[in-house]
Amino acid sequence: DWVMRDHIAEAVQAIREQVGDEEVILGLSGGVDSSVAAALIHRAIGDQLTCVFVDHGLLRLHEGDAVMEMFEGKLHAKVVRADASERFLGELAGVTDPEAKRKIIGREFVEVFKAEAAKIKHTHSRHVAWLAQGTIYPDVIESGGAKSKKAVTIKSHHNVGGLPEQLGLKLLEPLRDLFKDEVRELGVALGLPPEMVYRHPFPGPGLGVRILGEVKKEYADLLRAADDIFIQELRNHVDAVTGKTWYELTSQAFTVFLPVRSVGVMGDGRTYDYVVALRAVQTSDFMTADWAELPYALLKKVSGRIINEVRGINRVTYDVSSKPPATIEWE
Ligand code: XMP
Repeated sequence: DWVMRDHIAEAVQAIREQVGDEEVILGLSGGVDSSVAAALIHRAIGDQLTCVFVDHGLLRLHEGDAVMEMFEGKLHAKVVRADASERFLGELAGVTDPEAKRKIIGREFVEVFKAEAAKIKHTHSRHVAWLAQGTIYPDVIESGGAKSKKAVTIKSHHNVGGLPEQLGLKLLEPLRDLFKDEVRELGVALGLPPEMVYRHPFPGPGLGVRILGEVKKEYADLLRAADDIFIQELRNHVDAVTGKTWYELTSQAFTVFLPVRSVGVMGDGRTYDYVVALRAVQTSDFMTADWAELPYALLKKVSGRIINEVRGINRVTYDVSSKPPATIEWE
């Protein structure tokens, strides 16, 4: 529409004026905000933008490839993919405490990003002067109101504060004035696929907090396979009343890996395999949330498929806990 086109033209002009002929680095996560920021900045300055995509190995199935396909393949943006899965798994070995895992993932993320940014700074002929971030208006409010927050951190979120200073870069935040809905509309107008722009939020530590206790590659692979089936079926199942898919009818849905084994039967044999829990919630602000009343037919399909298709998982449970007192994530 016209309003959106004017909006884009204005934003593009503003970015060009701000950046001039300098270079910009952006941390691309595959999430909505960094994706839209990348698409917008790329529209404005093309190859003056280099995206750094830190792949911690705790993403969902094929997610890393999808990010590359979209930004490098379709938009022809410059993207450096730092495959750091070995490094993250190494650092996480033996660590079971949720907050300790978050701290390690956050710390390593910053280290890998800094190392990549430093390489880019040294190889570019033009002056790398900007760090772009997909900060949106609610993030600005949240950090401004930090003083009034409870002293107790229930879960420490990814904190990349201080990064621009450490890298000696200026901040470029073209989405600072926008609410989430506006960011999504902008993303669609910039040509990003709706599935990407309207996806459920995904935590920075990724599957690292969806594998209970110690993170292992074997667990991450099983979880990815199971979770992919759950998400596929949520997208496939349309609610007759609203005409919407169950993916659209839930605010966040995912699978959790429980590192315990239970007994089952398969053919003539006995199995002794892992358990997963399905989690789906409806919420407007993620501060409180109700567990979603998914149709039994959907749950049945998902559990049947996971148990039949994912060797190593023989039991699927559904989480019927609301927030509070449970949190949305299990860690
Ligand atoms: P909880 O589990 O606290 O989750 O009810 C509320 C929302 O926050 C997300 N979440 C995180 N996001 N880093 C993130 O970027 C984190 O460490 C983290 N922990 C929880 C969660 O996915 C939900 O949307």
